[in-house]
Amino acid sequence: MDRLTRVPGLLYGGDWNPEQWPEEVWAQDVELMAEAGVNLVTVGVFSWARLQPDAHRWDFGWLDRLLDLVHRHGIAVDLATATASPPAWLVRAHPDLLPVTADGVRLEFGSRQHYCPSSPAYRAAAVRLTRRLAERYHGHPALALWHVHNEYGDHVQECFCAGSAADFRRWLRQRHGTVEELNRSWGTAFWSQRYNSFDQVEPPRTAPGPVNPTQLLDWRRFCSDALLALHRAEKAVLDEVSPGVPVTTNFMSMLKALDYWEWSRYEDFVSDDAYPDPADPRAHVNAAMNYDLMRSLKAGRPWLLMEQAPSAVSWRPVNVPKRPDLYRLWSLQALARGADGVLHFQWRASVAGAEKFHSAMLPHRGTAGRGWQRTVALGAELRRLGEVAGSRIRGQVGVLLDWDSWWALELDDHPSARMRWPDLLRPWYAALYERGVTVGFLPPTAGYEGYRLLLAPNLYLLDTATAERLTGYVHGGGHLVCGPFSGITDRHDHIHPGGHPGPLRALLGLVVDEHWPIPDGEATIVRLDGTDRDAEPHPELRAEHWSEWIEPEGAETVARYTSGELAGRPAVTRHRHGTGSAWYLSCHLGPDTGPVLDLALTESGAGPELPGLPEGVEATRRRAADGTAYLFLLNHGPAEARVPLARPGTDLLTGTELLTGTDLLTGTDLHTGSATGTTLTLAPLGAAVLRLPAPEERP
Ligand code: GLA
Ligand code: GLA
Repeated sequence: MDRLTRVPGLLYGGDWNPEQWPEEVWAQDVELMAEAGVNLVTVGVFSWARLQPDAHRWDFGWLDRLLDLVHRHGIAVDLATATASPPAWLVRAHPDLLPVTADGVRLEFGSRQHYCPSSPAYRAAAVRLTRRLAERYHGHPALALWHVHNEYGDHVQECFCAGSAADFRRWLRQRHGTVEELNRSWGTAFWSQRYNSFDQVEPPRTAPGPVNPTQLLDWRRFCSDALLALHRAEKAVLDEVSPGVPVTTNFMSMLKALDYWEWSRYEDFVSDDAYPDPADPRAHVNAAMNYDLMRSLKAGRPWLLMEQAPSAVSWRPVNVPKRPDLYRLWSLQALARGADGVLHFQWRASVAGAEKFHSAMLPHRGTAGRGWQRTVALGAELRRLGEVAGSRIRGQVGVLLDWDSWWALELDDHPSARMRWPDLLRPWYAALYERGVTVGFLPPTAGYEGYRLLLAPNLYLLDTATAERLTGYVHGGGHLVCGPFSGITDRHDHIHPGGHPGPLRALLGLVVDEHWPIPDGEATIVRLDGTDRDAEPHPELRAEHWSEWIEPEGAETVARYTSGELAGRPAVTRHRHGTGSAWYLSCHLGPDTGPVLDLALTESGAGPELPGLPEGVEATRRRAADGTAYLFLLNHGPAEARVPLARPGTDLLTGTELLTGTDLLTGTDLHTGSATGTTLTLAPLGAAVLRLPAPEERP
């Protein structure tokens, strides 16, 4: 059983900030938690000033009483190390602990995350606090999980102070060994940037003009590592003092600043904070993508939704609430994509502070309104879904994601500033999502076995060794689809000589003669070869922002540009290698990427989780070790949806036997919809979770 913590079933609860309340309120809180089915609360995230009122005083009495109280109510605790917001006394004693911007501005105390990642004073104080907490509570019966810090990189991702500069130089020495090597790597022959010693090197502070790109790239790498070093320091203490209790820190979905492949190596399991915007009608697609990444970070292990909002957040310009059925649907979506729990920010709504308008499981109105009903209702549903915990999802199509390449792609002074990783990735992901194909993310350095189709929406930075592995994958019968502006630079961000796409030239069977960015607001038309002008549904595809003059060297043309300067030239190509194939999109097709991916899907044999899904319905399948499958069906659309079902199953949300034996209907009027024959009807924003007993495949 692959359980996240010792708490059975799915986890349900949220951040609880009891230091904001008198103790009488706590008693009411735990009663209500029990009523709502809360089984895990995150405590102490911002408690540092309360736990350590000054350098030599500690106050754990309140936390002792709190943990005992929670435990008496059968609720487990995710105990935070409280290090994300250092107290005023510490900051005033060590003013250089405050972070400095690239312009030399020192950020003040008065918010949170006001620390320099490389500050020895901050690190020593954080580790000391972590040790005190671990020593005191490692054996407490309420403790189920350690929550390190909070959202590393949320407000402060980098610091340009003298201490950070020294740490950067230490990191550079380790990476490059000698200053000659650094000069080579950074290409300092350019613009007379040569260094005689490491002492002359500084962080990329605001400079008169464009800063050395490799210096910037190394800075991104260093900043991710500097925060990770803090995380590892706390994690090491917890592992030493509190062995056997899992440790996690809450990630922030697909965050550019932190290389989560590297970070997740130090997580016992991955947890994530997700705040899809209810005002965005496509928010669920982006959420699905982030959840797939979270699941993939530890090779498919269940993960934990550590925070979501029960309704509105308070940090957007306009904070639209979630309808209760949308809240339910989006909660189930995290489970559908491999989460083993749904936690929130926060349990009880604050009355003071910057987040007093943020929704909570227990709103300002208390238990009287719809907010509380929503909280109780979801708790009850998660209890009914308990058996899903530990089951896994198998992705059909692999998507390559590399932080190094992301960082390098988005450096300045490129052919087009419009080539941003999220903008390139999202339409590819959306195309698969709409086709019901389940995705797993993987780093280019991973093993590709298990995937018949690999997608690389962009691999701007690509070393020769990885290109060789991709080549081996295709030679072994795999199918690779590669997006534009890939194979451009090596790990130093130096151009691969001899023509783009450098080490992918032979595999893709082409050379790029010239990049041809498309001006904003314009489009170049692309037509798939072999489709006639009136063919539906996509007779013409629109390339925006980017196109390339390519010359095939073995690849066949699949689609051509039919307008603009490149009219008549190949736009999409395929190069066959035995039974494998390597596809290249030389342009950014945005929402029109799907028809090209359809060709690769067909060729690779990868297909949807459930064929014939109506529009707006998301289907994923989690599989337990004993072969039981859980089919999640989520209707994100505004209309009723009828889902054809091939097999009998039980809807865990209602306990209804949907179909028994053959095709017979036994359950109707499910609150999610109704079953007729082999068709399940889902209401708008409705959902079903069907248990399909092993063996999975039946005639
Ligand atoms: C100016 C500078 C050159 C070079 C070009 C690029 O002319 O003098 O060094 O940067 O711009 O367009
Ligand atoms: C993040 C933080 C929380 C809170 C929420 C508000 O997830 O971790 O402390 O600020 O945002 O949405």
